[in-house]
Amino acid sequence: MTITTGKVYIVGGGPGDPELLTLKAKSVIESADVIIYADSLVHPSIVDFARPGAEVHGSKTLSLPEIMDLTLKSVQEGKTVARIQSGDPSIYGAVLEQMRVLEAEGVDFEIIPGVSAAFAAAARLKTELTVPDVSQTVIMTRFEGRVPMPPGEQLKDLAAHGSTLVIFLSITRMFTIVRQLLEAGYTEDTPVAVVYRVGWPDEQIIRGDLTDIVAKVRESKITLQAMIMVGKAFDPGLLKTEPGAKNGFSSSHLYSSDYTHLYRRA
Ligand SMILES: C[S@@+](CC[C@H](N)C(=O)[O-])C[C@H]1O[C@@H](n2cnc3c(N)ncnc32)[C@H](O)[C@@H]1O
Repeated sequence: MTITTGKVYIVGGGPGDPELLTLKAKSVIESADVIIYADSLVHPSIVDFARPGAEVHGSKTLSLPEIMDLTLKSVQEGKTVARIQSGDPSIYGAVLEQMRVLEAEGVDFEIIPGVSAAFAAAARLKTELTVPDVSQTVIMTRFEGRVPMPPGEQLKDLAAHGSTLVIFLSITRMFTIVRQLLEAGYTEDTPVAVVYRVGWPDEQIIRGDLTDIVAKVRESKITLQAMIMVGKAFDPGLLKTEPGAKNGFSSSHLYSSDYTHLYRRA
């Protein structure tokens, strides 16, 4: 990748494990003059890739104006800035407000995608989020907090679809989430997994269903940095069960010998 001097790179830093950085993210970090990284969620070892003499700032104690002042000042000095966010910047990354300032100031910027905690958690759970006959839709959402949900996006509205749910930023609302999911029609035996700090040394995985997950999470004392994953796709039994109508799910057509697609005839 060619790194352009005097440019801002908004980089997905992944969920924590530095080996989940993309090669592009690593190249940007290695070349940047200034690194501003979300030290609340991005693993500090990513800074080990910085070149000697690079300026490194944690952003967790900085306000948005402070981050943007630092970014603009650095760019005006002809420096290349790596702004490293957790996971993928497009998901709850508060990135629009940063891009708007860069756009208004005529600063060249680029986004480097990252591995979202959603996908790192799915991988850790050895789960396919879209299993034929179970769910072909993934809803990524959060429970309403200080940020109000737009009309039609309350959890109960989304839950009406019965699809795979991936819930960010909401672990402290577990009790209400479970109540609303049951009211919306998820059955008590719906599998739920909570993945705390996926990719970090203190990662925890809690599995249960809608009857026991609240108690299990309470017992774990997890109160932040967790993904809540809900739906039949999270049934660990799917790994060991033969697909078929009787078992409620089927295999994808992709590898079926009687299925013709662009690259292979039946
Ligand atoms: C501000 S959002 C950022 C999400 C990020 N952009 C992403 O794509 O993963 C922070 C929330 O993401 C989730 N999260 C981020 N990193 C995580 C991790 N390593 N393990 C579990 N959940 C994580 C948690 O729900 C946390 O409250």
